[in-house]
Amino acid sequence: MRLRLRHLVATLIALPVLGLLVGWLGLVPIGASGGHWAATDWFLHWVMRNSVRTAALGTATPPLEDPAMLPLGAGHFEVGCAVCHGSPAQDRSAAALAMLPPPPVLSEVVPTWTDAQLFEIVQHGVRFTGMPYWPVRNREDEVWSIVAFLRQLPEMDAATYRQFAGLAETTPGAVEPPALTCDGCHAEERLTGRSLIPSLAGQSEAYLLDSLRAYSEGTRASGVMAVAISALKDEELPALASAYAERARRRQEPAEAKPAMAELGRKLAELGDPARRIPACLSCHEKPDANPAFPRLSGQSAPYLQSQLRLFVAKTRGGGPYRQLMQQAAEHLEEADIQALAAYFSARP
Ligand code: HEC
Ligand code: HEC
Ligand code: HEC
Repeated sequence: MRLRLRHLVATLIALPVLGLLVGWLGLVPIGASGGHWAATDWFLHWVMRNSVRTAALGTATPPLEDPAMLPLGAGHFEVGCAVCHGSPAQDRSAAALAMLPPPPVLSEVVPTWTDAQLFEIVQHGVRFTGMPYWPVRNREDEVWSIVAFLRQLPEMDAATYRQFAGLAETTPGAVEPPALTCDGCHAEERLTGRSLIPSLAGQSEAYLLDSLRAYSEGTRASGVMAVAISALKDEELPALASAYAERARRRQEPAEAKPAMAELGRKLAELGDPARRIPACLSCHEKPDANPAFPRLSGQSAPYLQSQLRLFVAKTRGGGPYRQLMQQAAEHLEEADIQALAAYFSARP
């Protein structure tokens, strides 16, 4: 009995020492070119699938039928995912295929996952692979738009994909494939009254610039915008802000509001509700002599206004140097107020 125990202790000490020795001598192959053994490959995927399945157990899936999620999802997919996974308009690059594990063709694997599982993968990434996590926290709404798009991907042909993503058609004989620009998402003619993507046309230049800096410095959290501007230098931002500020905002179809809701929206905007400590929105917004860093809200799509107000109420919106003012203004808004205000401002000329 004594002898056995001694052997056990000796083995327990020797094993990690042996492991360290093998590591120190450089005997563990880490080159990717050899690939994994079939058994390793199977085991890693098995662990990954089990892990995602368990992580997704408590995740409730919101409704994903809103067609406005598709331009946002496809646009981001083009900027942030297609480099590795390819897309209906583009095969995977040789560099992507040389990754270990290589990024799969998503239209083939998406049907093997549930919505909640796709959400887990896109939100948190996959450890020990090149699969990145969502670059900001607290923007589950953005990740769900990607999931809504992924769900449609297996059925999507190249032309439909290009249209959703805002990619121009390839011109015959063109050497470079068309690239997605800011206008792929923000062009006025691509937006509707249901868009989740904001209109930038006619917005205050100071506010646009503050917002771009806020995204790039991380004081305003949006994974979509963080990725979209990641390749830009700070010096390039002012020109973009001024170009959009000079454009004319197109009239979108405003959200429908029942008379009682329209009345609540108007009252809160003009007078606020002192009893509930809600200030009059128009005391800051839409005033010609106000601080130019206060954004214009009129004619903005109602779903976008709602999403931003919900983020302010949840204290996760962030923003530019004056964000604290808006944070306080929104503190006591309830869901009914948010819908009424979004309807009011979307319909305001
Ligand atoms: C830098 C390359 C890279 C980028 C960018 C990337 N991925 Fe991935 N992704 C991978 C790799 C590698 C895997 C394989 C993981 C594995 O085999 O377990 C993967 C796996 C996945 C999977 C699981 C597929 C499966 O069945 O194994 C999904 C879903 C996915 N990615 C979606 C996305 C989406 C959506 C985006 C953009 C928001 C994205 N990926 C961006 C590299 C990337
Ligand atoms: C994939 C689509 C997409 C692309 C590409 C994109 N944007 Fe955006 N943009 C969005 C979305 C969605 C939002 C709202 C993000 C949020 O919730 O904060 C946004 C927000 C903004 C805002 C803040 C607007 C406001 O009212 O607060 C500015 C400014 C902006 N984008 C500028 C740009 C510029 C400049 C580019 C090109 C470098 C660009 N965007 C590329 C989708 C996109
Ligand atoms: C004390 C001034 C002030 C008051 C009052 C105020 N706001 Fe704001 N609001 C701001 C500022 C400043 C910002 C810009 C925050 C940033 O830097 O992103 C803003 C931003 C917003 C945005 C985001 C716009 C976009 O394009 O993303 C919405 C929506 C908004 N306010 C709605 C309202 C509503 C509705 C009310 C009334 C309940 C209101 N605000 C009251 C100052 C104010």
